[in-house]
Amino acid sequence: MRITMIGAGYVGLVSGVCFADFGHHVTCVDNVEEKVAALKAGTIPIYEPGLDELVKSNVKAGRLMFTTDLKAAVAEADVVFIAVGTPSRRGDGHADLSYVYAAAKDIAHAMTGFTVVVTKSTVPVGTGDEVERIIRSERPDAEFAVVSNPEFLREGAAIADFKRPDRIVIGSEDERASEVMREVYRPLYLNSAPLFFCDRRTSELIKYAGNAFLAMKITFINEMADLCEKVGADVQKVAKGIGMDKRIGDKFLHAGPGYGGSCFPKDTMALVKTAQDNDSPVRLIETTVAVNDTRKRAMARKVIAACGGSVRDKKIAVLGLTFKPNTDDMRDAPSLSIIQALQDNGALVHAYDPEGMEAARGMLPDVDLGDSPYDIAAGADALVLVTEWDEFRALDLRRLRPIMNAPVLVDLRNVYPADEVHRYGFEYHGVGR
Ligand code: UDX
Repeated sequence: MRITMIGAGYVGLVSGVCFADFGHHVTCVDNVEEKVAALKAGTIPIYEPGLDELVKSNVKAGRLMFTTDLKAAVAEADVVFIAVGTPSRRGDGHADLSYVYAAAKDIAHAMTGFTVVVTKSTVPVGTGDEVERIIRSERPDAEFAVVSNPEFLREGAAIADFKRPDRIVIGSEDERASEVMREVYRPLYLNSAPLFFCDRRTSELIKYAGNAFLAMKITFINEMADLCEKVGADVQKVAKGIGMDKRIGDKFLHAGPGYGGSCFPKDTMALVKTAQDNDSPVRLIETTVAVNDTRKRAMARKVIAACGGSVRDKKIAVLGLTFKPNTDDMRDAPSLSIIQALQDNGALVHAYDPEGMEAARGMLPDVDLGDSPYDIAAGADALVLVTEWDEFRALDLRRLRPIMNAPVLVDLRNVYPADEVHRYGFEYHGVGR
């Protein structure tokens, strides 16, 4: 199977390299020349565990190629995936589809023979219809079918998610294209990953509905955490207690500083807009978005309360800046709003992150970045754990206690047991317990 991936960003790169690893012949196309040159030289533009080695071994095996030449790559392909960005459009929160439509146009002029065009990018319901219309109007003679195949990859675990998915959703209304997609994913369903076929619009909505449901689940447990604090209950045990009910499930019930990242904030907003446009509002998701937005600043208020009601001229040491561990991604990270709110209240913020320092230098110019947790904790009035990187799970509290100005640990990810932290002479503030 010859596969061409348009867009060598996060999704395109991970999907492309995994397809190549399954034995397909894959060409990743990107219009950023420096990126393609770097990839050819073996330099991976993003941090994703395992990706580096997988790219190198598949390039070496001759199954994976990178190019800026879309025309040639599409001409030889049986299947062309569109994996370009769909950012939130400035101003109205709708998904910006200009890159998807531009790709559709380019593909139309380059394809030869029966070609399956697959939207992998997260796109609002009806985008597949528009992609089909564009290709048809550019190339009335072309033989093609447009299919929806959303991705469900978590950053930091993307390769494992690709290779061992809970399901593969394929929205196709063309039997020939469905057969091609079965062939594309054959190595996976031989591994017993279920392929779920449905119509294209349903497939497009599944992606948004899935992410919105997960965002709602997180927001639900976050509100329960607030209630736990008021009534003296423990949110981790509430999560465990409800999660043992198989109808609820125990995943995505970790209370914390609110969800962030490149998907949940953008996709929930886009779903709200689609629903409003169709006169069928999704009020639960509207509320989820609003609750999650206010939560980040509420976390800053928690830090201020832990510091005795004021952080003015106090040194606050922030552990973790990326929106979650095992990524260098800072998009919509809770740390950004929390730090801003602390600074607005006069705090001097110092921070450390294992992989996010480069992004942080650009995005947080007024934050003092240190080399380690111990470096930033020196003289601090509070240590605030924002992102649960493994290296923050076993901090040497005995070493931290004497170097801090005040022994206060605000653990926004509930990593530490309170009694253990107390034993080292720290004051402990978790979330919902
Ligand atoms: C998500 C979806 O999981 C994935 O299927 C989709 O395709 C893209 O969006 P990702 O954004 O990489 O993936 O991260 P995820 O692990 O889902 O976490 C999202 C956010 O929710 C993070 O900010 C995380 O810290 C937060 N979260 C997650 C919680 O606060 N509590 C939880 O229990 C789970």
